Amino acid sequence: MSAAENSEQHDIDVSLVKKDFPILSTQMNGKRLVYLDSAATSQKPVQVIDAISNYYRTFNANIHRGIYKISEQATEEYTKSKDKLAEFIGAKSYQEIVYVRNTTEAINLAALSWGEANVNKGDHILITQMEHHSNIVPWQMLAQRKGAVLDYVALNGDRSALDQESLEKQLEKNPKILAVTHASNVLGTINDVKAITRKAHDRGAVVLIDGAQSCPHMPVDVRDIGCDFFALSGHKMLGPTGIGALYGKRDLLAAMEPIFGGGDMIRSVGFQTHTWNDLPWKFEAGTSNIEGGIGLSAAIDYLNGIGMKNIRRHEVEVTRYAMEKLGGIRGLKMYGPDIDHMESRGGVISFSMEGAHPHDVAQIFDDRGIAIRAGHHCAMPLVEDVLGVGAVSRISFYIYNDKNDADAAVDAVGEVKRVFKLQ
Ligand code: ALA
Repeated sequence: MSAAENSEQHDIDVSLVKKDFPILSTQMNGKRLVYLDSAATSQKPVQVIDAISNYYRTFNANIHRGIYKISEQATEEYTKSKDKLAEFIGAKSYQEIVYVRNTTEAINLAALSWGEANVNKGDHILITQMEHHSNIVPWQMLAQRKGAVLDYVALNGDRSALDQESLEKQLEKNPKILAVTHASNVLGTINDVKAITRKAHDRGAVVLIDGAQSCPHMPVDVRDIGCDFFALSGHKMLGPTGIGALYGKRDLLAAMEPIFGGGDMIRSVGFQTHTWNDLPWKFEAGTSNIEGGIGLSAAIDYLNGIGMKNIRRHEVEVTRYAMEKLGGIRGLKMYGPDIDHMESRGGVISFSMEGAHPHDVAQIFDDRGIAIRAGHHCAMPLVEDVLGVGAVSRISFYIYNDKNDADAAVDAVGEVKRVFKLQ
């Protein structure tokens, strides 16, 4: 069980949480900032901002290099952040945590290193129709390089979840790898990745989970899921940008080759040859994102302080409340699992309004100080080909959002109707 799952059950006092996020007491377009775009990036609490500032103010030095106090302190804090992340997601140790820039880089690392060594001409690679570009393009590139076949698990009839028959059928092709999102950034759908992993393992596939939209919002335990790789981004879980991680089972990582060479990833270098460092450092060439690791560490402390189960419960409550209100608005269509299936949806609500373009909707929200995202959400095959729309508007909630924020969004929808004279 990860540390996140050990926290006590309690309601989140959002008014107190908001005070920890300096940006939430600022204004946008002269109005209170209502931030409803955490699926794109989360805001940062003062604890994270201070941890980064404190590093630069008091012990800024390179890691793994200096034989002096502050370098040792920086090394210790950076390594500690990996210990913390390992515990947070249920990994065995920091040796299974490779720091990268973000989820995209984590998936690319798996495709470039594991994929390059294990996928050959004619092999199948399996992904799904609800993936973000970060979990599509690296596999397309690998398939093109290797002459492999890229297959997709289709969505079900109402396009809210993966079609189980399609999954079974695609797995019959014995793919080398199945790469699937834990939670969709467009539909909000939470996939049963534990069951999917079991099925894929039964067919001999390695399993990679894109955890960018799950890890910030719910307890994650990679050992319970049983996956081989898990990719995540720090900036979506209250941490700074530029730090993310690829979790990999130790044996898999040990067998993989680094994709970058240089300082710190080696044990020894001669004029013609070199040997690699231990895990996970063999994958981290050059000076690391030290402030990123330290900031992510503070973010994990913050999340653990609230408790991941409490965060999940809070988001379900606010999302359900918003969906109830939005559901009563004529001409507004929401995507993803409906209100009766909250157990399989996160705090993302994508919607369209008949007679108003999603970008115009987002513009009207912006005028009212409300930040939402509109567009294809880096999931063009899903939004354009499966949902059959060019773009959708998207509200996404986090720990610092409450029902007042949901009400602000509902009021803004009312304003859209007035501006566009919709019935
Ligand atoms: N993946 C991020 C989003 O969904 C950027 O907005």
